[in-house]
Amino acid sequence: MWQRGQLKRINLLEGSVSSGKTWISLVLWAFWVSQMPLDKLYLMSAVSLTTLKRNCLILLQELVGKDNFDFSVSVKEGRLFGRRVLLEGASDIRSEGKIRGITLQGAYVDEATKLPSDFFAMLLSRLRVPGAKLFATTNPENPAHWLKTDYIDRAEDLSMLCVKFLIDDNTTLPAEYVENIKREYTGVFYDRFILGKWVQAEGLIYPMWSDALEYPPTRQAEKYALSIDYGTQNAFAAILWGKFGNVWHQLREYYYSGRAERVQKTDEEYANDLDTFLAGYTPDGCEQNQNAVKFLKPGEKLLTIIDPSAASFIALLMKRRYYKVLKANNDVNDGIRETGTALHTGKLKLNPDCEKTVFEIQNYTWDEKSGDDKPVKVNDHAMDSMRYMVFTLNITKPHAERRASID
Ligand SMILES: Nc1ncnc2c1ncn2[C@@H]1O[C@H](COP(=O)(O)OP(=O)(O)OP(=O)(O)O)[C@@H](O)[C@H]1O
Ligand SMILES: [Mg+2]
Repeated sequence: MWQRGQLKRINLLEGSVSSGKTWISLVLWAFWVSQMPLDKLYLMSAVSLTTLKRNCLILLQELVGKDNFDFSVSVKEGRLFGRRVLLEGASDIRSEGKIRGITLQGAYVDEATKLPSDFFAMLLSRLRVPGAKLFATTNPENPAHWLKTDYIDRAEDLSMLCVKFLIDDNTTLPAEYVENIKREYTGVFYDRFILGKWVQAEGLIYPMWSDALEYPPTRQAEKYALSIDYGTQNAFAAILWGKFGNVWHQLREYYYSGRAERVQKTDEEYANDLDTFLAGYTPDGCEQNQNAVKFLKPGEKLLTIIDPSAASFIALLMKRRYYKVLKANNDVNDGIRETGTALHTGKLKLNPDCEKTVFEIQNYTWDEKSGDDKPVKVNDHAMDSMRYMVFTLNITKPHAERRASID
């Protein structure tokens, strides 16, 4: 299959996670480049340079040796078998300008669906010498994604080779590792990342929600965190979490909707409400504590993860004594995937008494009308608050850590 005669102008390796796409494509890339002209230009790209280095450059160096591949991320260049290789991050629209005007003999793209379509199109237009080729890898996405509709579905017209990889095809992985990865994904993410299918996200976002309902222990937790989705017109949703062993439990929720109540609260009023909300939580053995917030030790600060857009409220909380504020990582889809994993693997438990959270999770659905993966944006405040905690604290390790695109 991989004899040179079989390669096309565009060569895409797609499919499940850990199926060997990156490994095989880098071997192929190195072998192919080594047989191409010395004086031509080559390029390797990913959503960012950090991702490129982490996913590809280090591995490529291990595969062919430092003598055959060396690189500098700051100079944005490498040498592969004596050939000059440009390195480029492609995270935004401006990145497309970076490759305008150059002529390439070959290009390598990691995780192609994460790139802007303009960048990908521009890259192809740069491959204009005879025999120029592109090598790319990707996991499947929404079937309406540009890579699927504009390229994969038109593979025959485009001189494009698409090869599907599945995790079970990678016989180099220990069976236990494969089992663990399979257990991490559910719903649409299982279909895409394990089964390698381009499927739309439909129905409930967290179909496993009822298995995650569990009353929290009444004793002191080992760690606490507060997550906040801020709103004045929209609802304000705060959740207090406690970590017991490997499991984060929802302890209490605070919820206020300025629209539903027809009275908006000021930042000051919200902060006072939070004081009362936190003071009301008294796990076993801390009643005698003289602190206003019973579960905190004297001088201890509460890790508070908050909607990054809530600038004024963040400033206000930072002035108060016991908050240690952390701005939330607000990447919706990666955050939802991690939250699904946390619920599914039992690392996150929801308190059945937290009515708003339980109501929202039962009704939290994918927007099937949108061509993208988007949740229906209604009654999603406790859901956002929960996602901020899970994704910002990265509670689902270790595979999630490797994949998380927080560069
Ligand atoms: N032919 C092979 N020989 C030895 N090891 C391999 C081979 N193919 C894959 N591996 C190993 O399997 C693991 C997963 O491979 P790889 O990272 O290429 O998967 P991937 O399909 O790119 O996954 P992802 O979608 O998560 O990026 C890696 O640790 C890699 O080193
Ligand atoms: Mg890969």
